[in-house]
Amino acid sequence: MRTLLKNCTPVDPKNELPDRADILLEDGQIAKITNSQTGKNNNQNDKTLDLKGAMLLPGLIDMHAHFREPGFEEKETIRTGSEAAAAGGFTTVVVMPNTRPVADNPATIELIKARAAEVPVDVKPLGSITKGSAGNELAEIGFLAQSGVLGLTDDGQPVMNSEVMRRAMEYASDFNLPIISHCEDLKLAAEGVMHEGYYSSILGLKPIPAAAEEIMIARDIALAELTGASLHIAHLSTKRGLEMVLEAINKGIKVTAEVTPHHLTLNDKAVLGYDTATKVNPPLRSEEDRQALQQALKEDEIAVIATDHAPHTIEEKMGTFDSAAFGISGLETAVAVLHEDLISQQKLHWDKLVELMYYNPAEILQLEVEGLKEGTPADLTVFNPKKKWQIDPGKFKSLGKHSPYAGKDCTGKILLTIKEGQIIYDDRGDEAEILY
Ligand code: DOR
Repeated sequence: MRTLLKNCTPVDPKNELPDRADILLEDGQIAKITNSQTGKNNNQNDKTLDLKGAMLLPGLIDMHAHFREPGFEEKETIRTGSEAAAAGGFTTVVVMPNTRPVADNPATIELIKARAAEVPVDVKPLGSITKGSAGNELAEIGFLAQSGVLGLTDDGQPVMNSEVMRRAMEYASDFNLPIISHCEDLKLAAEGVMHEGYYSSILGLKPIPAAAEEIMIARDIALAELTGASLHIAHLSTKRGLEMVLEAINKGIKVTAEVTPHHLTLNDKAVLGYDTATKVNPPLRSEEDRQALQQALKEDEIAVIATDHAPHTIEEKMGTFDSAAFGISGLETAVAVLHEDLISQQKLHWDKLVELMYYNPAEILQLEVEGLKEGTPADLTVFNPKKKWQIDPGKFKSLGKHSPYAGKDCTGKILLTIKEGQIIYDDRGDEAEILY
């Protein structure tokens, strides 16, 4: 069976494409790309979908998500996480190792891979840096590399011992793996729950200073310089941290950084009202930080946008702001929010989004991708820029129902997600459907 996607607006900064294209899918691949105005593609037997000008992007990659399996299946499973990914337009998701047991050994990686094989979304594991992510003893990095992890991180529980981190970087470079660092000085962050500034003072909430992140960025850059390792800074959130990353890049140190949609579009004022759906780590920062991150996107200084999809149960997110878990569900809102707050406001271009959410994460993680090109796997994201909808976390496919964007009106929504030629998410009807 061949499927013809007619009248789409392809977005791919690396391939020469017509403004309006018809894309023929056959045997899981992009078989032919023709100009909708001039091409003749129609074959009576093809299933034909008129996309009416919707944007067609290569299937997006999220390099920072928490699927919680094994061990915390009440928060998310690989299946529910992959459904959330499909609904958000992601065909590849890289999952963090803070599971139970921690993904610090090949057996756990094999289990994640086995579960991942049951879903169409590509779910790719990261391994932990230290055993149990306890920060003391290195995990068996060689075995993790052999089992196919794409990188190493103790996300959420940063390695505080600099000597251990140095050795981790040395091993990681021997095995050609990036170190992904959640930069947080745990002692300085102490029991903090939100960004330290005006709003933490008026809300009376325990603060986390920007310096808690910046100290560790400085340390990890110094260690990357010492060891020659590839360092990727996860969820960069401060202006000073950004400056340090830029300085390091200019010095030739192998550093890249990612930023989340929530740090780009929200600031610490969002915590007014004590809504625990605004409690994330790193915390929502000041307006000055947010502006600096947005500006950095324009100037090509940040390589990746990643969601840090971190679902929790309702019980873990209810109660007081102090006691609630850090983390929000981000997969199903990322593209719509970026479109609403940045692309529609001319602060981000579609081409750039494809670099930030496809080409650059693939390069950092050494995934081979070729974009919208004939003869390559048909992993595709279709976005309808006209659809009006309101974000309702109750309707998320994710088991995590917390989002700081609850109630936000958006114009623009994922219409189809296609994996190897199969439609796995379809929002053309009255109700959005997962088709696997
Ligand atoms: O908000 C967060 N939640 N930040 C992290 O770094 C960890 C994550 C989680 O695992 O819930």
